[in-house]
Amino acid sequence: MQPTLFIANWKMQKSVTQSVEFCSAHFESLKVLSADTAIDLVICPSFPALLILNEMLADTMVHIGAQHCSPHESGAYTGQVSAESLKEAGCTYSIVGHSEQRMYNGVTDQDVANAANHLCQNKIEPIICIGETKQEFENNTAFSVLEKQLDPVLSILKNTNQPITIAYEPVWAIGTGTVPENDYLTTVFKHISALLTKVHSGPWRIVYGGSVSEETIAAFKNIPALSGFLIGGASLDFKKFEKIVSLGK
Ligand code: PGA
Repeated sequence: MQPTLFIANWKMQKSVTQSVEFCSAHFESLKVLSADTAIDLVICPSFPALLILNEMLADTMVHIGAQHCSPHESGAYTGQVSAESLKEAGCTYSIVGHSEQRMYNGVTDQDVANAANHLCQNKIEPIICIGETKQEFENNTAFSVLEKQLDPVLSILKNTNQPITIAYEPVWAIGTGTVPENDYLTTVFKHISALLTKVHSGPWRIVYGGSVSEETIAAFKNIPALSGFLIGGASLDFKKFEKIVSLGK
């Protein structure tokens, strides 16, 4: 059985000091939790905390991931962080194309594809976020939106056999407490799986993100092709995160 992937997306919610405090206060529990072969645990703090958390958690099985990666390889791109730097900071995963990056920083589908490509070349597993807005959901255009978002990613990664993770995060479910119906998720996952099976030659996983919590996690059981969860708000509190992991694995 493949382990269930639990990705904590801390966004800009914890400072470096708070990130270090979290890992030191829960070090032993993180060590035990991450040693469970039924799960893969990834923590994505903000950029300046990557290196220090990687060093702190070196004796555990916790993976460190970034929240974003530049679509460029290197060069005069003030404020951006390359896949190569993420590699050197100890990242084995990186989120790309999160809807907040698409919305606030103008990240395009092609940027996401380019970033995913650089990550794969650096042997970092990209966690590629896709998802429709509330309006697109209501207009029944979700599938074409997802295809449009995935298209450049799958064409650039055509010749790589590196592992990738697709995070389906409907924008209307992020931070709202609302989660999609089980049937809807099953259909969406089937659709994404079909696209991936057809095109991607390496291993792939699909995770769900958007208001995953102790209360909602049970609803995601029995969805075919669901390999894990991308968790925002509820990952900031260790007890809540631990509960989600134990209920969702
Ligand atoms: P949420 O965020 O769990 O707080 O809804 C998920 C995400 O944005 O990745």
